[in-house]
Amino acid sequence: MSVPVLVLNGPNLGRLGRRQPEIYGTTTHDELAERCRAWGADLGLDVEVRQTNHEGVLLDWLNDAADAATPVVLNAAAWTHYSWAVYDACAQLTAPLVEVHLSDPSQRPEVFRHTSVVTPHAADVVAGLGVDGYRVALETVARLISG
Ligand code: DQA
Repeated sequence: MSVPVLVLNGPNLGRLGRRQPEIYGTTTHDELAERCRAWGADLGLDVEVRQTNHEGVLLDWLNDAADAATPVVLNAAAWTHYSWAVYDACAQLTAPLVEVHLSDPSQRPEVFRHTSVVTPHAADVVAGLGVDGYRVALETVARLISG
């Protein structure tokens, strides 16, 4: 039986493929979602991919994941860097949380990107691998839930 896993993407990631492709690549969010589902299927994971530009919606999804003990792969995008509400929501998760970023925020020039409210709660952080980072994050979830 496949294990449910949520891949949650925050603001502006719905514009992947059109958004600063020199930083985020040319893969669209629909294509990313399709790849995540396929990678998940190979790993025995039933992956659902969601994206929102609304912080409260992300909080509701994280709260639901806490209640259902669902593993989460999270790219909180810009909220990563300043949302204490996301910090508090991540703190409530009991199943593995893996943080993912397409770029490597720690290597980017804007100092605000060098802080993450997600990292203190994450079992692992995958950054700078582009879309492939989601595959690595799902592999990490599969490894963590298998014991
Ligand atoms: C991002 C990095 C963040 O700094 C930025 O705000 C994003 C995307 C990434 O995937 O590289 O929106 O999370």
